[in-house]
Amino acid sequence: RYKFIFQFPLPIPSIAQPITSYTNSSTGSTIDYFEINIVPFDKQTYPDLGTTSYVGYNGTAPGPTFHMTKGREAVVRFINKYDRPSSIHLHGSYSRTPFDGWAEDRTFAGEYKDYYYPNAQPMRTLWYHDHSLSITAVNAYFGQAGFYILDDPAIDAQLKLPSGDYDIPLMLAAKQFLPSGQLVSPATTHVSLWGDVITVNAQPWPYLNVEPRKYKFRLLDASISRSFSLFLVADSDPNTRLDFIVVGADAGYLSSSVPTKSLVIAMAERYEIVIDFAKYQGQNLTLMNERQFQNNPDYPATDRVLRFVVGTHVSSTDGNGEVPNQLVTLNDPEDHPVIDKQFTFETKNGQWLINGVGFEDVENRVLAFPKQGKVQRWELINNSGGWSHPIHIHLIDSQVTKRSGGRAAVEPYEATALKDVVYLGQNEKVEVVANFAPWSGVYMFHCHNLVHEDDDMMAAFNVSQVDL
Ligand code: C2O
Ligand code: CU
Repeated sequence: RYKFIFQFPLPIPSIAQPITSYTNSSTGSTIDYFEINIVPFDKQTYPDLGTTSYVGYNGTAPGPTFHMTKGREAVVRFINKYDRPSSIHLHGSYSRTPFDGWAEDRTFAGEYKDYYYPNAQPMRTLWYHDHSLSITAVNAYFGQAGFYILDDPAIDAQLKLPSGDYDIPLMLAAKQFLPSGQLVSPATTHVSLWGDVITVNAQPWPYLNVEPRKYKFRLLDASISRSFSLFLVADSDPNTRLDFIVVGADAGYLSSSVPTKSLVIAMAERYEIVIDFAKYQGQNLTLMNERQFQNNPDYPATDRVLRFVVGTHVSSTDGNGEVPNQLVTLNDPEDHPVIDKQFTFETKNGQWLINGVGFEDVENRVLAFPKQGKVQRWELINNSGGWSHPIHIHLIDSQVTKRSGGRAAVEPYEATALKDVVYLGQNEKVEVVANFAPWSGVYMFHCHNLVHEDDDMMAAFNVSQVDL
């Protein structure tokens, strides 16, 4: 599978177009209405193999990118035209519970469901993906995942970062192909599916033509099980790691930008980075992945991700100025030193559990009762030996305040961010602090290794208006 590395261009997902717009009579703001069909389709991944079967949003993988502006609401009708149930989670949105993709709230073949999204949060890179009970890994892996970008024009006008053609979403995902050209299903494992093929926007090892200027890339790790430690090199000098600047994370811009030479990104995490190609006219740069990073198995080419082919002509200098040091003021939760809850992530009898509970344990799976509008500190403890788990807590944006045990500390780009996923590496303990707001209701939290989530490392918390 390696002879086509860097031979095909990076595909850019199309932009979802609203069918109509109307006025929300209770808020007075505009609602854009979209329809997305969940349908099977085939795609030629390798020129010398058979086609690959997918089931995706509007027959594409990744699905169409929603490009939303803060303040305009959205209703998206997801129409299931395939024989597996679906439930759609807009990851990064504080959706009300009926629209959050609860795993058991399934839409079956021939049915549709309308999801309402307020789009009132600070700007951020979200993604929408399947969340259907026990088959999330299969549905997401075979194509049900796409970008949902929420922009805030007022802030972008101040920061003047690269935008338009210079702002590019990159969905990383490790895959495993059969000699026929079909994908190996994650349903074949209860452990993990790491994949030996690195895809970006569903294309194995693509290249991207860039101009010698600054670009912003919105990175998302949509892999089932593979986490990455990324770095950048010029092909003429592969031993020197180049600088790039982290400007955003799960919940939008960082409070201050962070120059770095490496970036850890685990499943469902998003990071926005700025790379300046100005000094590399006519050269190739490669986005690389560290070997032997955490528990990810290496294959011959899992150290490579994406090649940048730098041209010689700059067609616009918009957004090509200095990246500001101070970006935005984050809505940090108040200081709250007491640990309210501890959650241990472990494996027992072939199941993945949180405090000994799995999602199928319906009587016991609500593990926390934070009061609405109150801050809590949660300690997440990895007690599963050589495994790592990216932990996603729905509804909230949290501050990562402490990491111990494995990697030394909170990464600098985590420290200036708000996050909705935190990577719990091998043997690590991590503390997160969040305001449990704005809504009440029962929400999920889980490991975002989707094989673990399906089997059964997922639980719930009940945000309540009264003390429970
Ligand atoms: Cu990205 Cu509960 O999921
Ligand atoms: Cu896990």
